[in-house]
Amino acid sequence: MNIQVKDLYKNFGDFQAIKGVDFSIEEGKLVGLLGPSGGGKTSILRMLAGLEEPSSGQVILNGKVANGLTVQEREIGFVFQNYALFKHMTVFENVAYGLKVKKVDKARIKQRVEELLELMGLAQTINKYPHQLSGGQKQRVAFARALAPKPKLLLLDEPFAAIDAKVRKDLRLWLRNVISEFGITTIFVTHDQDEAIEVADELLIINSGKVEQQGTPWDIYHRPASRFVAEFLGNSNQLISPVTLKGFEILQKYQDGQEWKENSSVFIRPEWIEIRPLDVSYQKNAGETAEVTHVHFRGDAWYIELQLADLKLFTSLSINAPRYQVGDQVNLLIHKLSIFSDVGNEIAGNSLLNVSLSYHI
Ligand SMILES: Nc1ncnc2c1ncn2[C@@H]1O[C@H](COP(=O)(O)OP(=O)(O)OP(=O)(O)O)[C@@H](O)[C@H]1O
Ligand SMILES: [Mg+2]
Repeated sequence: MNIQVKDLYKNFGDFQAIKGVDFSIEEGKLVGLLGPSGGGKTSILRMLAGLEEPSSGQVILNGKVANGLTVQEREIGFVFQNYALFKHMTVFENVAYGLKVKKVDKARIKQRVEELLELMGLAQTINKYPHQLSGGQKQRVAFARALAPKPKLLLLDEPFAAIDAKVRKDLRLWLRNVISEFGITTIFVTHDQDEAIEVADELLIINSGKVEQQGTPWDIYHRPASRFVAEFLGNSNQLISPVTLKGFEILQKYQDGQEWKENSSVFIRPEWIEIRPLDVSYQKNAGETAEVTHVHFRGDAWYIELQLADLKLFTSLSINAPRYQVGDQVNLLIHKLSIFSDVGNEIAGNSLLNVSLSYHI
């Protein structure tokens, strides 16, 4: 199903929760909806599902205005964090429920439910009741129940929030495979950025009732459209006071007096900082000199904190890279910065290094 949302507003009393949201999603895409708590993610999903009417604006499903249609008429399946299974029904009965409502004949129901449970790795649980299942199994039953009536759109609102980290990781990979097998358009709300980046074709970042940015995880990470997105997605060093850095004369443009503090932010992604052993030839060129102030083992990487004059920076290094110790003097090659200000936003390459600003390999 393809989706278009046009100028959507939602007021709860005199509180405006959704403030003019526009986006479209192509058939078959898996879209991650991300944003801070209270931003409006659930409200948007509920309006798509038909559980809530917009105050104004349109929800267009497969080219037809869906405002006013019921959940069933929209052919949408959903799994919400607290959308519990029917306690008094077995796994079979839970998954069969939507098909029964649609008055599908018994033999077809049996076939479809068994097929789905097989696919979900739940065949063994068919006669069990929800209290006899683990959290991960319950959530998979909820998916099977949502998928059984062959919805054209699947809405998932933090479906794994109550599940522990390891199981959650397995489930999200499983989910991605199931969804791509079904080819069903899916919108997936999560607070877990890694989860979103790993699973989604596209991300939609929502903040304060508005869309901040829509795009592939790659594009959003590398080309955040706003200061908010730069700060929200991934890790960055954020410079909060004026600095001079070799190869970034461009910073002067943003650093006039008071303006800098109030209206400019500079972000340096950790992977834009390269650590090199101390060497005079670097220092003559783009190399800044810094001290290693903290080294922390992260399993697959070293997390390293550095002091460059007044600046505290962090970066990470492959576990296979030469090891640095606290107190070591090192050279830093800073490849890029991203700058957000009233004057404009830009990604700046180090003029002393041969830096490509193109991310399209
Ligand atoms: N039924 C309601 N009545 C009044 N206000 C509501 C209602 N539903 C949501 N809100 C408000 O609308 C705003 C958006 O809520 P929503 O649940 O959509 O946020 P969210 O992005 O899903 O947040 P979270 O990540 O915490 O789930 C919040 O300020 C919330 O308090
Ligand atoms: Mg929510």
